[in-house]
Amino acid sequence: MRIIEKLDEMQQQAESWRRQGKHVALVPTMGYLHQGHLALMKFVRPRADLVVASIFVNPTQFGPGEDLDKYPRDTSRDVKLLGDVGVDVLFIPHAEEMYPDQFQTYVEVKKVTQPLCGISRPTHFRGVTTVVSKLFHLVKPHTAIFGEKDFQQLVTIRRMVKDLNMDVEIMGHPIVREDDGLALSSRNVYLTTEQRRKALRLSQSLDAAEDLVKKGERSGNVILQRVREILAEDQDEDVRIDYAELRQPETLEQVDHVEGPTLLALAVFIGSTRLIDNRVL
Ligand code: PAJ
Repeated sequence: MRIIEKLDEMQQQAESWRRQGKHVALVPTMGYLHQGHLALMKFVRPRADLVVASIFVNPTQFGPGEDLDKYPRDTSRDVKLLGDVGVDVLFIPHAEEMYPDQFQTYVEVKKVTQPLCGISRPTHFRGVTTVVSKLFHLVKPHTAIFGEKDFQQLVTIRRMVKDLNMDVEIMGHPIVREDDGLALSSRNVYLTTEQRRKALRLSQSLDAAEDLVKKGERSGNVILQRVREILAEDQDEDVRIDYAELRQPETLEQVDHVEGPTLLALAVFIGSTRLIDNRVL
């Protein structure tokens, strides 16, 4: 696996692949890779001539007081894992080159970034869409893949690509979970053993909501009440619900009744760690 750090080198390589008619797939990440990330690589591997993974802990998507400085990093381990799943190029740009002095251009998607995570993280998605646009210009992929774990991010990127006529096919990949249901996340390392046990309430509440819908329940209030009961069990001070909402999966508009496919989206603080999870009911 080749490692590219310089932006001009990445862009020249991408241009040369394109001229040779190669199909290029990009998997953007912030590193500290787990099986959720690797599933995206394995999924695109047989669907592309060249697979590029990027690792960049993108400062513009972290708000003040968020975990930018302590975001977990282990590049040598990541390099080994990416080599094992057959990634061709690892692109690791540097923040000084990505955001030099005088940087002042952002890509902003409006409506779908406002609810859910947009409320507690008002500048987050602007950082994501800006860096993903930059990565598309640098790697020139035909296909890029994102996990449904960050459902609002995936919806936002799809909207950006449509609205700005970007010539990239966006693929979504289902959430990868531990055997006990916890969605894999780089932030799970922040959890103590006790907190990890409490974190299972997220997937348990999604299961309970799914059961209710299967049994014919259609009322948003009834479903969300059950979800909140499971999350806030024992009125535990260590568990704080940021949001638990039902939304239309493409527009992210609020839904009161489960009629068609409906997104149940959760963000929950366990101690100071904010976890997200979701399911389309
Ligand atoms: P990061 O959190 O590192 O995630 C990289 C990709 O892996 C995202 O598309 C995310 O949805 C996916 N992913 C993470 N955990 C997953 C899981 N358990 N199952 C399936 N997919 C999972 O998301 C970002 O980085 C950044 O915002 C980025 C898009 C790279 C822009 O900076």
